[in-house]
Amino acid sequence: MKQMTEQNLINAFGGESMAHMRYLHFANTAEKEGYSNVARLFRAISHAEYIHAGDHYREIDHLNDGLVANSMGAFGPGDTLKNIQLGIDGETFEIMEMYPVYIETARFQGENGAVRTFEWALNTEKEHKKLYEKAKKAVEAGDDVELDSVQVCEVCGFTLEGDAPDKCPICGAKREKFKSFE
Ligand SMILES: [Fe+2]
Ligand SMILES: [Fe+2]
Repeated sequence: MKQMTEQNLINAFGGESMAHMRYLHFANTAEKEGYSNVARLFRAISHAEYIHAGDHYREIDHLNDGLVANSMGAFGPGDTLKNIQLGIDGETFEIMEMYPVYIETARFQGENGAVRTFEWALNTEKEHKKLYEKAKKAVEAGDDVELDSVQVCEVCGFTLEGDAPDKCPICGAKREKFKSFE
């Protein structure tokens, strides 16, 4: 596998792994502060990042070298309002810089499996950002967010509020592949 794309897969695996864990901690904080829907949103999105990390991981060729991951993560922690902002900042970086550059590099290098897993993540992060922005508005007003059930595709991580679709709009997986957070 081409080295640049492989390093980008490792970085993306590192970034998604840490986002997965950070969001679980953010969920615990939100729960303590009485925002149970925000907590549920963090848990659902945490699960989507876990799916992304696994998708990236399975594309990596050399799993036995001492490789370093450069995650460019947004850390914290803070109160729930700050944690939501950290979530927005992290998703924005992935949408605006990280995944577009990784996709272009993988495409240039003919690494089609990596293109696919990066595109799955990019499409999902856009939805995560919107959901966090909605949560931010509510918490700024001192309220929990109004949130329907949240669905996560266990193939590509795609995340949406409401009922599971018959077919995932990103990867085409069937309805049964969605995990519901309610
Ligand atoms: Fe995300
Ligand atoms: Fe999907």
